Amino acid sequence: MKVFLMSLLTFSVAACVGKSAAPNSGSPPVANPAGAGTANASGSLRETALPTKRKMGVALATYFMSDARYPALAAREFDSLTPENEMKWSATEPNPGQFSFEAGDRLVEFAEQHAMRVRGHTLVWHNQLSPWVKGLNESELKSAMLRHVERVASRWKGRIAQWDVVNEAVDDQGKLRQNSPFTALGPSYIADAFRAAHEADPNALLFYNDYEIEAYDSPKTRGAYELVKDLKESGVPIHGIGFQMHVDPRGWPSADEMQKNLERFAKLGLLLELTEIDVPLGEIPGDAERKLARQSELARGVVHACLAVPACTGLTFWGLTDKHSWLSTPEWGPKKGRGPHLPLLFDESYQPKPVYHGVLAELAGR
Ligand code: G3I
Repeated sequence: MKVFLMSLLTFSVAACVGKSAAPNSGSPPVANPAGAGTANASGSLRETALPTKRKMGVALATYFMSDARYPALAAREFDSLTPENEMKWSATEPNPGQFSFEAGDRLVEFAEQHAMRVRGHTLVWHNQLSPWVKGLNESELKSAMLRHVERVASRWKGRIAQWDVVNEAVDDQGKLRQNSPFTALGPSYIADAFRAAHEADPNALLFYNDYEIEAYDSPKTRGAYELVKDLKESGVPIHGIGFQMHVDPRGWPSADEMQKNLERFAKLGLLLELTEIDVPLGEIPGDAERKLARQSELARGVVHACLAVPACTGLTFWGLTDKHSWLSTPEWGPKKGRGPHLPLLFDESYQPKPVYHGVLAELAGR
């Protein structure tokens, strides 16, 4: 019965945006088939955002590039690219001292062909580590971390605009998370990672990146604030903080509260990026039309908060179409509440959804 309801919802939501639920229906992006892939296509997100001086970003994956609609729509709509998995430790250093950069190279080259900025993601994270890392003692781990940062950041020296140097180091209580092997090195590992990244690529802007730090007054937000404040005040080369913005419609701060929170971090002299935006609609009450409308409202609030704070320099959506979202995988979708999540700007047939038009209107000040 549940499967039937879910498929019914999927179909009805897709129908509500006027398109078949069938993936790969073959129809070109309705946004602008003629302009697909052209960097200055009028009416696109990237074009509309130009006057705001914000980059419009998307997380891309090499394994989706075989469908020509994927690179075409990405290049048309976005001027910033984050490799979804290709620059993570398990992808770039599968074995100790043996590096693999081909997948990351492909995405950097794609970005350069289409006048897209690259946000490197991510040098030091407790997830997607190569298995060999977990068996190291503290001194081996510190050496391995410094070598990893140096080699990976050097690979694309001068070609990465911003790095997420350290990702998700803080837990829900605002302390260094205990399930990260790097925590055993003490808090200094974070400054060490930033210094190593800066030495490897002095022109890259270096960010700390985390999720659930969007609300103004939570223990985690306070912990992240104190972390980056200490780094900044200690003269560590940190230039910005990334707010992932994985929206949870069951409890999400208002645009005003997000703006107030962003302003507090900006006062530290940091740049701000909204780095992994998605808005799952499964838990939003109401019929398909209501879900899609609420999804657009929530996304507009995120965009509005960024536009209201000059230090907020870019907004990245965590995937291109609903078909490509991490929340559409059997591994992650069920862990994040009721599905189908359908969290992104384009549907499975690469068609723009109401949330796309909502974001476009917010960028245009409409
Ligand atoms: O590479 C293997 C492949 O060889 C294997 O065949 C396949 C099936 O088992 O798995 C592949 O690895 C998957 C990887 O994505 C690449 O596709 C992992 O199982 C899967 O867990 C991994 O998921 C990624 C997730 O991070 C891991 O935590 C998602 O794609 C990615 O969107 C997600 O992104 C993170 C950000 O980096 C940090 N912020 C949170 C965000 C969501 O978790």
